[in-house]
Amino acid sequence: MTRIAIVTGASSGLGAELVRQLAEGTFGPLDQIWTVSRHARQTSPLVRPFALDLTDPASFDALEDALRETPGARVVLLANNAGFGTFGDFADMPAPDNAAMARLLMLAPVELTYRTLPFMGPGSRVLNVSSVAAFMPQPQLATYSAAKRFVLDFSRALDAELGDVDIHVTALCPRFMRTAFLDHAGANDVAARMSRLTGFEDAGRVAERGLAAARAGRALCIPSASMRALYLATKLLPYPLALAAERALMG
Ligand SMILES: NC(=O)c1ccc[n+]([C@@H]2O[C@H](COP(=O)([O-])OP(=O)(O)OC[C@H]3O[C@@H](n4cnc5c(N)ncnc54)[C@H](OP(=O)(O)O)[C@@H]3O)[C@@H](O)[C@H]2O)c1
Repeated sequence: MTRIAIVTGASSGLGAELVRQLAEGTFGPLDQIWTVSRHARQTSPLVRPFALDLTDPASFDALEDALRETPGARVVLLANNAGFGTFGDFADMPAPDNAAMARLLMLAPVELTYRTLPFMGPGSRVLNVSSVAAFMPQPQLATYSAAKRFVLDFSRALDAELGDVDIHVTALCPRFMRTAFLDHAGANDVAARMSRLTGFEDAGRVAERGLAAARAGRALCIPSASMRALYLATKLLPYPLALAAERALMG
């Protein structure tokens, strides 16, 4: 059996941390770590890089073909992590950004999960990176926050479906991390205001918590205690009230 972990968006930020910790053995023994992003490159002997654009559906075929061609391929972990967010008013957003966000944040995790499932078995795990932005609709982040909500709900429903065969799906909801994500055009101003509300957390710690939750088979992982409280508040407060409170806090 060839034990494989697949990590998308591994060339920087949270994905690079996930790969570093996987290579150190945090998730148990692995034969290969497949990293998938446009600039994927060899970072350790275990790593097999796939330089692919996950907004292009041909990339899903390429990965499925590679799994078929690998003798005894067993996907023990699929981490759907690749992502970017464009912040700002929806009407002012560059049109390609909305389509790319929808493809990368929603279609890619769905396709990759579907195509890797036949190569999974009891004990296999899917770690889907969502965000605290998923907790409620976010003006100035309309497409991004809705896509992350999709990831959250998709993960939890799938976890309930697959739990009987001991395949678990975890939605990981980090708050702001200081990664290249924040360098994206338009992000800095809104991100600065939003991060006042949520604060920053360390990508290494988020990776550690996410991998531990996946191993334990937990459907939801919110690493930050204050964000767990926010999650609860968004479930209790009516949306207009939660939105008003968020706007007041952001200034
Ligand atoms: N940073 C935050 O504040 C924060 C908070 C909550 C959730 N998140 C989520 O965390 C995840 C990781 O983000 P990060 O903070 O680590 O940001 P990052 O450092 O910018 O990493 C994003 C990764 O996604 C890859 N990627 C982007 N477009 C891609 C495409 N079209 N095809 C394939 N790969 C692509 C990038 O690699 P290439 O450029 O090589 O393609 C990169 O490896 C994302 O899903 C993000 O939404 C981030």
